[in-house]
Amino acid sequence: MALPNRVKVVEVGPRDGLQNEQQIVPAAIKIELIERLADAGLSVIEATSFVSPKWVPQMADNAEVLAALLASPRRRAGVSYPVLTPNLKGFDAAVEAGAQEVAIFGAASETFSQKNINCSVAESLKRFAAVVNAAGALEIPVRAYVSCVVACPYEGAVAPEKAAWVAQRLLDMGCYEISLGDTIGAGTPASIQRMIEACAAVVPVENLAGHYHDTYGMAIANIYASLELGVAVFDSSIAGLGGCPYAIGASGNVASEDLVFLLQGLGIDCGVDLAGLLAAGRFISAHLGRAPASKAARALLARQGRQ
Ligand code: HMG
Ligand code: MG
Repeated sequence: MALPNRVKVVEVGPRDGLQNEQQIVPAAIKIELIERLADAGLSVIEATSFVSPKWVPQMADNAEVLAALLASPRRRAGVSYPVLTPNLKGFDAAVEAGAQEVAIFGAASETFSQKNINCSVAESLKRFAAVVNAAGALEIPVRAYVSCVVACPYEGAVAPEKAAWVAQRLLDMGCYEISLGDTIGAGTPASIQRMIEACAAVVPVENLAGHYHDTYGMAIANIYASLELGVAVFDSSIAGLGGCPYAIGASGNVASEDLVFLLQGLGIDCGVDLAGLLAAGRFISAHLGRAPASKAARALLARQGRQ
């Protein structure tokens, strides 16, 4: 199969990245980061999550961040700011803050579901159905994640059929896109392709997205393997920020700079300006006091420094 001509990049750094930082990043820095990411051409930027502040204090400023972005004079047309909403309480708070798109997040592993959202997979699907119904009444689109699609930090290898089973339930519920999370980055091109094939047998490939953490340095290879099967939506995290607080040892998503460098090299359009992305990555990395985790960013910034 030919590779897709165009790929949608879903930037998740402000949520997936910053939720896992030891230091709590001030709302003003998050807002500036997200606006710089929009300036760089990203059209979907996951802004925050409406989860318990006791569980994830890093996202406690969710309403402040979202409301400021929506009211900003710098706001660009066509840019959406989805937010995570695990249950109706989170959904109601997100709507109150002005959310126009939300995302629910389930798992293919029972133990991970319990550790992450404190309920079984079956119970989570009931909660998600309530969120999707409420969102439908307000014409708010819902994206969905399935975590642990190839491996779980507690249960080990996860059968592709388990990921596909959950993905199908979420699509049937009314979610428009199912993002397949290799939460601990343990997948390799072969296991990722087996998982995508199982999911694509029950969910149209146009509705699938890859969400690959880069713990073992496999994310770019896994994206290429997914492109080969027609997947054309990928989540990435600016400067490679992040991880998941309930998946110990998981590092950040594939860096947005690495993903865009790959796509440019393959001649695949994604509408993102790499120079703008580098500047955004440098901004947040300077705030955190470290170099970007992205190898492409480090090489390109070093080259800029020599010119
Ligand atoms: P719970 O304790 O089971 O909920 O938490 P509960 O209904 O029993 O309520 C307990 C307390 O939480 C109550 O407050 C509720 O009001 C409050 P109290 O009376 O004790 O003061 N509460 C909430 N507060 C704010 N927002 C809410 C909310 N719901 C209840 N939405 C819950 C269930 C899901 C809320 C909790 O387990 C939680 O917040 N978990 C954090 C999950 C999380 O953010 N994980 C990281 C994101 S997922 C991820 O990173 C993976 C992904 O990137 C894909 C991949 O990589 O695989 C997406
Ligand atoms: Mg993640």
